[in-house]
Amino acid sequence: MTQPDPQPISVSTPRHIAIIMDGNGRWAEAQGQPRVMGHRAGVKSVRNVVALCRERQVESLTLFAFSSENWHRPEREVKLLMRLFTTVLRREVKLLKKNDVRLKIIGDVSGFDEKLQARILQAEADTAECTGMVLNIAANYGGRWDVVNAARKLTELALQGEIAVSDIDEALLDRFTSLSDQAEVDLLIRTGGEQRISNFVLWQCAYSELFFSDTLWPDFGEAALQEALDAFACRQRRFGLTSAQVAPVA
Ligand code: FPP
Repeated sequence: MTQPDPQPISVSTPRHIAIIMDGNGRWAEAQGQPRVMGHRAGVKSVRNVVALCRERQVESLTLFAFSSENWHRPEREVKLLMRLFTTVLRREVKLLKKNDVRLKIIGDVSGFDEKLQARILQAEADTAECTGMVLNIAANYGGRWDVVNAARKLTELALQGEIAVSDIDEALLDRFTSLSDQAEVDLLIRTGGEQRISNFVLWQCAYSELFFSDTLWPDFGEAALQEALDAFACRQRRFGLTSAQVAPVA
């Protein structure tokens, strides 16, 4: 992960946006439909927001699709989500390639069935050469898992004598987290009206600007994204410095 700029400046477009896509179930229930219809409608918002972020030259977009805790949802909903991921991976790859978007899945993919794991590998391979934007889909992901996973890898290296315990610092641990190849999360958006991070990109959001939108994910389109981007452009990012030390917001 690229560390924050030591001389912070106000930039109007975030390099990396992460989104907790919340509200699918409530959107469906409000229309008297089963919750799963909300997830289906949510796929359209995913497509739309990917295109909008690509147009705005965002470098990385990270979407929380399935948390480690989501396994505890009703079996029927989990099954449908797995089917939806499998279908979406197959169907959307062409469009991603056309838009020069590289797909990366972050999370413990070993928890998925073999068919889905194979699809993930195939979709990542098919878009591996794309350089316009990275779309990270967090699936069977948890922010704590990410840090624990990195800690395990460092411990293995230490036990093998390849690093000393005193070598371990933030930069080294960061290298073993799942978004280490990308800029730090600048803007973290949560849709659906709740105001919490829910074990998403915990390590990577240390200095993120947070934006909570009341819009339910299936309704989250250009206007709602623009609202978040406008709010971001007005924030003064200080990275621990005083306001006098950082450039005024343009
Ligand atoms: C949260 O809404 C949403 C999810 C747990 C699933 C998100 C999945 C999609 C948008 C579809 C597939 C996406 C990709 C990237 C393949 P919720 O069900 O918690 O809504 P609620 O808070 O209203 O109950």
